[in-house]
Amino acid sequence: MELVLFIGLQGSGKSSFYRERFADTHVLVSKDLWPHARKRDARQQRHISEALEAGRSVAVDNTNPTPESRAPLIALGKEKGARVVGYAFESRLEDCLARNALRVGKARVPEVGIYATRKVLRWPSLAEGFDALYFVRLTREGTFLVTEWSES
Ligand SMILES: Nc1ncnc2c1ncn2[C@@H]1O[C@H](COP(=O)(O)OP(=O)(O)O)[C@@H](O)[C@H]1O
Ligand SMILES: [Mg+2]
Repeated sequence: MELVLFIGLQGSGKSSFYRERFADTHVLVSKDLWPHARKRDARQQRHISEALEAGRSVAVDNTNPTPESRAPLIALGKEKGARVVGYAFESRLEDCLARNALRVGKARVPEVGIYATRKVLRWPSLAEGFDALYFVRLTREGTFLVTEWSES
């Protein structure tokens, strides 16, 4: 049983990666699923908790940009006996803005949101409690390259 956390800017490829690699095996949890709810963090924790208690693996598809935002997720995963794995997405500002600009309708997020996330983004570290960490790059050809995360 696994708790997967994605880390990366809006437009870095997280949701596409979920659909390609995890849709068959991991329950999708994301605060985007209930954009207007109050107490979204608590609600997210509850969903994760219930899935893990049912023995299901979970992938958390948010930007998860800071150690503070990741800590309660990692703690919950460990408490429920899951292996906690992080996937950090290459998040070049120009690439994320360009991909976002190509989206239509509600999928396109306000650019200020991307700038705001970039400002607070702190890359993950094994010291946060991850059992494994990977780096993901979405290529121009639309394929995902996954490598071991190297702590810098
Ligand atoms: N295989 C692909 N080839 C080209 N563009 C892609 C591919 N996968 C995703 N994209 C584009 O990249 C953008 C970001 O992808 P998405 O997975 O929605 O990112 P995130 O969930 O991190 O915001 C989307 O606009 C999507 O259309
Ligand atoms: Mg997404």
